[in-house]
Amino acid sequence: MPSYPTQDDRPEQRVSITVNGQDIVQDIEPRTKLSDFLRYKADQTDVRVGCEHGACGACTIELEGKSVKSCMVYAVQADDSDVLTSTGLNEADGELGPIQEAFHKNHGLQCGFCTGGFIMATKSLLEDNPDPSDEEIEEALSGNICRCTGYVNIVRSVKDAADRINSPGDLENVTQEAKGDD
Ligand code: FES
Ligand code: FES
Repeated sequence: MPSYPTQDDRPEQRVSITVNGQDIVQDIEPRTKLSDFLRYKADQTDVRVGCEHGACGACTIELEGKSVKSCMVYAVQADDSDVLTSTGLNEADGELGPIQEAFHKNHGLQCGFCTGGFIMATKSLLEDNPDPSDEEIEEALSGNICRCTGYVNIVRSVKDAADRINSPGDLENVTQEAKGDD
């Protein structure tokens, strides 16, 4: 009977990944998914793991500037790469960035499980299309699932985020339009 290597027999591998500007060097099992690396080795708990097979979008991040679902990438594949999560969209002073602020002001979340992924998907959309229609937003975010909001406030948040990015000095009207402004 042949003996096959077990997980315990496989050596750990050292990876160095820059996460939101911070270099993280860790020894990991080669099977470690990037989503788990970000949560458990880099303390980025804004990266959520829902389905673990690319269907829900909760783990959406940017890898080398490209939007990816981090549960579909092994951490070793991201060695020597730059990763951005929704936390990395904070302003330099720690305040919320425009996309985060738009989701906050428009109640684009309830439990918040999906929110980091939606924020990163929104970033990617607005970089490609700075003034999307409702239909374009729905299409662009169709790879992200929310079980709570019904999506109406998410679409509203994305439109508000576009306004904030396109007209950063003219937020008064935007916030008045935001339903339930706090
Ligand atoms: S956890 Fe990655 S897409 Fe669902
Ligand atoms: S806010 Fe709860 S899953 Fe989206």
